[in-house]
Amino acid sequence: MQIDINGARIVADLNSLAQFSDTEPPSITRIVYSESDQRARAWLKEQCLAAGLAVREDALGNLFARWQGSEPDSGAVGTGSHIDAIPHSGRYDGTAGVIGALEAIRALRQAGFKPRKSLELLAFISEEPTRFGIGCLGSRMISGTLTHENALVLKDRQDQSLDAVRHAAGFTGKLASVKLPAGYYSSFVELHIEQGPILEQEGVSLGVVTSIAAPAALRVVIEGEGGHAGAVLMPQRRDAFLGAAEIALAVEAAVLATGAIDTVGTCGLVEVFPGLANSIPSRVRLELDVRDTDLARRNAVLEKISLACDAVAAKRKLRIASTTLNADAPASCGPEVIAALEDAAKGEGISYRRMISRAYHDSLFMSRIAPTAMLFIPCKGGVSHRPDEDAAPQDLANGARVLARTLAALAS
Ligand code: GLV
Ligand code: MN
Ligand code: MN
Repeated sequence: MQIDINGARIVADLNSLAQFSDTEPPSITRIVYSESDQRARAWLKEQCLAAGLAVREDALGNLFARWQGSEPDSGAVGTGSHIDAIPHSGRYDGTAGVIGALEAIRALRQAGFKPRKSLELLAFISEEPTRFGIGCLGSRMISGTLTHENALVLKDRQDQSLDAVRHAAGFTGKLASVKLPAGYYSSFVELHIEQGPILEQEGVSLGVVTSIAAPAALRVVIEGEGGHAGAVLMPQRRDAFLGAAEIALAVEAAVLATGAIDTVGTCGLVEVFPGLANSIPSRVRLELDVRDTDLARRNAVLEKISLACDAVAAKRKLRIASTTLNADAPASCGPEVIAALEDAAKGEGISYRRMISRAYHDSLFMSRIAPTAMLFIPCKGGVSHRPDEDAAPQDLANGARVLARTLAALAS
């Protein structure tokens, strides 16, 4: 079967999606359920319908576009990624996997392929944790990892509940219906930019992902006592920000102490109240992210951070409360999907290497309900979550081509 991938169409589609953003190009900001996100979704639905796919959305807003196979009762082959984007990010994270999958399906249809199992493109809702503090909301619920009861307590920073926000966006069904029945997918495969430098540095065209690192995120609220920055003398202070600063340094120390290159920690969100140079911080909200390929080692770091919070609270007379937003196990990819990806890359004569994913992806949760693997393409300088994120048209086309062959093999 001759598979003709239209690389120019992938680039054009990614450029079209990039127009739906709340910040000026090249920066992309597309927060879940925002108007930009809703407009991007409407555009994507049109493209899926134009490709001849049957489109549906679930009660959360996960988007499914199906090419019915000759055995519709067999578990479908799923593929896709996300279109939401963190503030001030780039145009390829997630979108490359959605548009690449759409192009792969278009090419298979054009080639006259007849799937036995149905092929289904997914655009997961809220892969990014920007709005509700927890990543992979869509795939967490699809896989039953996040129950509808636990989803109901989620709120955004404006204190709006997930339930209220999804209703306002037009998704009014029962959240309990988002979890898919067992066997719905027979396999899942996600195309994504690498978000790291290895493929580019080694001059290898593709990465076949064999495992995904274990992510965790904590919210730490530190309360002290506010006051006048000139009048309150240093010995009397209970400065919440200084407590937060000590905790941030303790996170770095705990991570470095593992001695493992695979352990990483980031304090990426600090909100200081009341947030004025001449007012002593009375309250700080700190959100931090810790990841590792080794679950026990990651958990040991979380334990050290918890001890550090207690020590800082005692030393500085602060109240410190920490909440685990998520603490997920790593995923091992499905050997049959890995083999299908490798066979497809070999068949196309495109170089590849096996690798782990240090970023999390919806595949982390899809792997809990179906054999799952991922295909990485290089991105310039390994840069991601930045406006200068970039992927070469040839690499995007290679990814779509190998994905198409893989989907064909899995759906036959
Ligand atoms: C996904 O965006 C991640 O933070 O790994
Ligand atoms: Mn991302
Ligand atoms: Mn992503």
